[in-house]
Amino acid sequence: DWTPDSFVDSTVAELKEKVGNDKVVLGLSGGVDSTVAAVLLHKAIGENLHCIFVNNGLLRKNEFSAVLKQYEGMGLNVKGVDASARFLDALAGESDPEGKRKTIGRIFIEVFDDESHKIKDAKWLGQGTIYPDVIESVSVNGPSATIKSHHNVGGLPDFMKLKVVEPLRMLFKDEVRRVGASMGLDPELLGRHPFPGPGLAIRILGDITPEKVSVLQEVDAIFINGLKENGLYDKVWQAGAILLPVQSVGVMGDERTYENCVALRAVESTDGMTADWVNLPYEFLQNTSNAIINRVKGVNRVVYDISSKPPATIEWE
Ligand code: XMP
Repeated sequence: DWTPDSFVDSTVAELKEKVGNDKVVLGLSGGVDSTVAAVLLHKAIGENLHCIFVNNGLLRKNEFSAVLKQYEGMGLNVKGVDASARFLDALAGESDPEGKRKTIGRIFIEVFDDESHKIKDAKWLGQGTIYPDVIESVSVNGPSATIKSHHNVGGLPDFMKLKVVEPLRMLFKDEVRRVGASMGLDPELLGRHPFPGPGLAIRILGDITPEKVSVLQEVDAIFINGLKENGLYDKVWQAGAILLPVQSVGVMGDERTYENCVALRAVESTDGMTADWVNLPYEFLQNTSNAIINRVKGVNRVVYDISSKPPATIEWE
């Protein structure tokens, strides 16, 4: 019978056998899949697992430092690479959604390739691929997705010539969470909402600037923390804020303002393929809107997205 404990035991044994004394390189995204894959590999091969966690400058507020600390606290051999400037420079002036995705994918590969070259004699690339990724071949999760969708562009980067080890290949998301729980991973980490690989880039409509990223990070943090404080976070499958390329008139004291509009989105879903907008309490929306408008400079209007998928997608880009 399949149980999380028996899966961990048999997988760790298999990984030991397969990888032996070789070194494995693995890109951590902060998400559940790559983290659980890393912990399994770490149990099997210890310090021979070399993890790389890249800050693309498009993560949630404080996410890079907080998650990096968490990884270190778990005993993982992890290197945090802050490549924010490299990503944001490359994205300057880009407003096409697919253009943003391509640029982010390309820079990620460059950064990851540079970093993996520093790990001498690595033989394997570890990935957090799960079963739905295998069947759809398009992953919704971070680095592995980015790697796959771009591996035919201009010759293979060296790390992609490594042999691939994917310990979660046969698991569904809920099984990955159970495996993570049985290895004692932080429930908060395991319950984390999905977050797209291109991050806030696809939640800033139009071109991306460092200023827009920090405005959106503030808005998003108020919304997400509010969901947590009000016991709503776990009732929602995914939530976030979108910075619209729309300014509108407002008043602040005696002054007329002309500032940005943000949309809030929260959906219920099981797999992201279809989704319903969540009927969040009016009072919560009211408090969140007030907090955002009062605290985030440059935002004077908040709207709530009441569209379901299909036909609307979860992300706006
Ligand atoms: P959509 O917007 O297509 O999103 O309804 C479905 C799920 O996929 C995530 N998503 C992405 N994840 N790279 C990713 O890693 C992407 O380019 C990407 N686009 C959408 C989205 O956040 C949702 O969970």
